[in-house]
Amino acid sequence: MKAKLIKTNHVINGKQIFAIELTNNQGTYVKIYNYGAIISDFVVVNAHGDKQDIVLGFDDFSGYINEDYLENYPYLGAVIGRYANRIKGGKFNIGDHTYQLSQAKGPDTLHGGDIGFDRKVWDILPTVDPSLTLQYVSPAGEEGFPGTLTVQLTFKLTEENELILDFRAETDEVTAVNLTHHSYFNLAPEGGNIRNHVHRMPASYYLQQDDNYVVTGVKIPVEGTMYDFLGPKAINKDWDRKTGYDQTFVLDKQYGELTLASETTEENGGLKLSIYTTEPVAHFYTAKFLSVKNGKKGRNYGSSDAFCVETQHHPNAVNIPEFPSTLLHPGEVYKQTTIYKVEHK
Ligand code: BGC
Repeated sequence: MKAKLIKTNHVINGKQIFAIELTNNQGTYVKIYNYGAIISDFVVVNAHGDKQDIVLGFDDFSGYINEDYLENYPYLGAVIGRYANRIKGGKFNIGDHTYQLSQAKGPDTLHGGDIGFDRKVWDILPTVDPSLTLQYVSPAGEEGFPGTLTVQLTFKLTEENELILDFRAETDEVTAVNLTHHSYFNLAPEGGNIRNHVHRMPASYYLQQDDNYVVTGVKIPVEGTMYDFLGPKAINKDWDRKTGYDQTFVLDKQYGELTLASETTEENGGLKLSIYTTEPVAHFYTAKFLSVKNGKKGRNYGSSDAFCVETQHHPNAVNIPEFPSTLLHPGEVYKQTTIYKVEHK
């Protein structure tokens, strides 16, 4: 893998924005910004020998800070932190202290609050081996979370066409951490609706949600429901066309094991995307709220024009003691590995 640093003409909060290009000998090219750790491009050679970009984003960095885009903001390709998905009522307790967070989605908190890690400028750390490490230090009290949290995200692109994301985080006070990456994938050469992509997830349970999409704590077997992706099936086979999927799946695994979260294939480009993770759940979102103008090549992105597999801990786990803990204590290291592997199907 080779890494190349390119200075953009953007400075945010006094910090220079860079694009970092990772390439391998298979013709794969990944572009990442040190703003939100955004993966803006993930170009692979498809089964016909053509270059194909499998993520949604913008041709130019300015797209990501455009007001129109931020108005109906979908977190295109960005890291999510401190806490992925929704936290009920935007609050949680540690001991007998209640922490009130910014409530970004009605009464609840979504994806870390008003301005999460997806809109922060990250530092680029020097690395010895060919990889990219971004670091963000989140001050105590940011969006209401206790403790100074130092987060590092290392990206590596292998010759096997795996983009490896290694997260680590440390805190100086007990806090809640649940990180993920919010790439919007589309494996069709011309993009468009992902209804015909064929998807599989080794997950025997999904998590019940309330009317505001907040996880309640109840696990439901997928068997006999539209959520059964145990065998490969077209995304639109059982879905409700209007809503698609915006649901958390509990992966069949031993806690902490690096296993398959999902496998998705598409006929025309002949590509297969496999996602592996050490995380216990994957939130599968078929982008029903997506509405972006002037994406790459001037394309507009609409509802169901992409899918996200957000590997993480159970949403709202900080309020549900039965779920694996999302609290991080001083002296402990939060670790997560997620791998996006692209092959010909
Ligand atoms: C959530 C969706 C939300 C989307 C973009 C997903 O992770 O589950 O409900 O609309 O992110 O904000």
